[in-house]
Amino acid sequence: MSISFKSLETILERHPPSPEHLISALQDVQARFHYLPKEAMTAVCDHLGVPVSRGWAVATFYKSFSLEPQGEHGISVCMGTACHVRGARNLYDKFRRDLGLPGEEGTTRDRKFTLRQVRCLGCCSMGPVAQVDEEIHGNLNQRKAGQLIKLYRKR
Ligand code: FES
Repeated sequence: MSISFKSLETILERHPPSPEHLISALQDVQARFHYLPKEAMTAVCDHLGVPVSRGWAVATFYKSFSLEPQGEHGISVCMGTACHVRGARNLYDKFRRDLGLPGEEGTTRDRKFTLRQVRCLGCCSMGPVAQVDEEIHGNLNQRKAGQLIKLYRKR
């Protein structure tokens, strides 16, 4: 995949060429591209004077970095026990069908959404629950799942 070199340049300009800026530069790359593309990692490490191997070591250590392309919007469907007994599996399958994902989890071809399963989002009484980006949506059903996708597709 090709990335916007203009965006990358802007990120590099924001960070003085010193190894101490590695994490913040990678955070900017993650925020811009929703993952850490190889070309961006190489450019950041060259710019900061850091071995690329160290860049990848940092990227794999912190959970907030993604090494695979992610969608603009992340949908995390809770599959914990309380949500499971309230139909989380059917809800999850509805998300998968509407997003056209062949596998259990993954990113849509247009890179608009990434769907994943999680265990307990901490609001079991509202189950079944899904988190879209930073927002929690409770008492979901298949109809509401379809509406959520339409809503976030426009954002
Ligand atoms: S089990 Fe789903 S929020 Fe706790």
